[in-house]
Amino acid sequence: MLTDAHITIIKSTIPLLENAGPELTSYFYKRMFSQNPELQDIFNMSNQHTGRQQVALFEAIAAYAKNIENLLVLTTAVERIANKHTSFNIQADHYAIVGHHLIETLRELAPEAFTSEVEEAWGSAYQFLAQIFIKREDEIYQTNANTTGGWTGKRAFKIIDKIIESKLVKSFILEPVDKQPVIDFTPGQYLGVEVIPTGSDYKEIRQYSLSDKPNGKTYRISVKRETIGVPGIVSNFLHDGIAIGDVINVNAPAGDFFFVDRAAPVVLLSAGVGITPMQSMLETLAQNNYQFPVHYLHACENEEQHSFNQRVQSLTADKNWQQTTWYRDEISENKNIEHGVMDFSSKSLPLSDGDFYLCGPIGFMQFAKQQLLTLGVCETRVHYEVFGPHASL
Ligand code: HEM
Repeated sequence: MLTDAHITIIKSTIPLLENAGPELTSYFYKRMFSQNPELQDIFNMSNQHTGRQQVALFEAIAAYAKNIENLLVLTTAVERIANKHTSFNIQADHYAIVGHHLIETLRELAPEAFTSEVEEAWGSAYQFLAQIFIKREDEIYQTNANTTGGWTGKRAFKIIDKIIESKLVKSFILEPVDKQPVIDFTPGQYLGVEVIPTGSDYKEIRQYSLSDKPNGKTYRISVKRETIGVPGIVSNFLHDGIAIGDVINVNAPAGDFFFVDRAAPVVLLSAGVGITPMQSMLETLAQNNYQFPVHYLHACENEEQHSFNQRVQSLTADKNWQQTTWYRDEISENKNIEHGVMDFSSKSLPLSDGDFYLCGPIGFMQFAKQQLLTLGVCETRVHYEVFGPHASL
């Protein structure tokens, strides 16, 4: 139970938290992985190296402390995190481990300020938040368990096809080894995929957006080979180390970014491999003969890196939907291809009543969102997905 006294104490520790910043969560993760090394099989250790996971967790804890009197503000974040957790198959038991290391982190980093009152208040506050997650995650697991084609935990899937979509992107078609139906996802959602890459000491779980419409039998993910900076350990393994016929473990589809039919125009905006959830939405809208205008806008480096080009052209031409791609490096003869960065000024977009779905690098999404807001689009109509640990635009 969270009492008024607890709330007062939690609020009094906000300056302490803010002073510590993501150092706090870096310390926490180091502590947790040294004492519970088995958790390295769950967490994305690459995100640990980039520091993005430490920042995402720190921001969540700070937001919790700041909004402890008005937790409704956190509803969207809770939904996003709970979905992410289920795609890692996080269980209620894990919360005690995380809670223990969080409390011990506070004690070790601020021994003077960490009085028994502070310990009790943060202990209760953590329990309270953990229960919110456990309850929501349980609901998601129950739905998966009770829906046709659903499952909880791992399920073995065979790669039945591997398709080159562009220079860096390959699609993988996954069919359950048991050949039973698979649960429908909502276009925009992702799949949690588990592999042990060659040379790795850990299991690695990654989320990849589903890139086709649901069909009840198979899933398609489309994976970009990450080559910039530290090469993507899982993406490179999927490209080079996984062949047709191989079997991998998969957690059920999840994610809070998905198409919602509001009987209104739709604008699908993507850059690079951010095209994958848009492709799923476009395929679904086309299949359902969506009755409102659809605009498909994409940006990529050049023709070599342009995934799903032919497919998008045929789907949009068929329905008379507007589509434009911007190539950063290349000029093209194709009338639907422009040169430079994505620019909405010459496009007649449904600014007042459309829904805008964005996915791509964070810089691209910030740039696109800013343009939309400047043109008068209401922020609540802009929906976006960040690949990897969440960041606000
Ligand atoms: C991801 C918060 C408990 C495992 C995240 C993210 C946040 C978060 C903010 C990033 C979400 C995103 O990118 O959209 C919390 C909070 C917890 C909690 C506030 C406790 C109240 C746990 C527990 C586990 C866990 C108990 C399991 C041991 C993970 C994993 C990820 C994650 C594996 C993805 C990490 C990655 O990409 O490396 N969590 N979490 N979390 N959380 Fe939690």
